[in-house]
Amino acid sequence: MSKVLVVFGSRHGGTRGIAERIGEVLRTGGLDTVVTAAELAGHEEVRTADAFVVGSGVYMGNWLSEALDFLRRNQEQLAARPTWLFSSGPLPGSSKEEREADPVTNALGPLDGPGSGGRKKLEEISARVRPRDHRVFLGAFDPDDPPRGMSERLVRMMPVAKSILPTGDFRDWDAIEAWAREIAAAVPSPVPAG
Ligand SMILES: Cc1cc2nc3c(=O)[nH]c(=O)nc-3n(C[C@H](O)[C@H](O)[C@H](O)COP(=O)(O)O)c2cc1C
Repeated sequence: MSKVLVVFGSRHGGTRGIAERIGEVLRTGGLDTVVTAAELAGHEEVRTADAFVVGSGVYMGNWLSEALDFLRRNQEQLAARPTWLFSSGPLPGSSKEEREADPVTNALGPLDGPGSGGRKKLEEISARVRPRDHRVFLGAFDPDDPPRGMSERLVRMMPVAKSILPTGDFRDWDAIEAWAREIAAAVPSPVPAG
């Protein structure tokens, strides 16, 4: 049975929920699937995986550092196996939303110029990992969940916070499950030993 490692970076649990749902669909599709936080992913789990799904919540145009670090420290294994990436971010109705922009730009910002730093970091590592796909899913924001870290605290104190951070759980489970089914169909069978 092929083994898939689903790895997530999540500050408030939204991305963890997406990773867990992807894991359920992959298991239903007959794959031996482990879902783990990026900072807890062990060497042995990485070494024995036949495919990877890696995702992160997006904060101010950046993947969370633990998810980026996972990609960096395992880039050779990821490049040698089928790998899928996902970002969980956009909150529909945000004043930062650009209707004309493609989903990756909407979540992570432009490829160049002001605000491109987080996108560039991910593009740089993606060029080495060569993922099969990078999908963007809508996220979730609960203002009652206290901020984690100084930068999030500052953003949430800004007067524009209300317009850039619409409240609600916008995760599109149908889209997430459909993507996971595509992955389940594309994961190759393990090569028999010997
Ligand atoms: C302070 C703050 C900044 C955010 N910045 C972005 C952003 O730049 N791009 C984006 O697509 N989503 C952004 N979001 C939305 C989050 O990515 C979304 O809430 C996501 O579901 C969070 O995932 P998590 O719960 O796994 O941490 C931001 C949310 C907060 C609270």
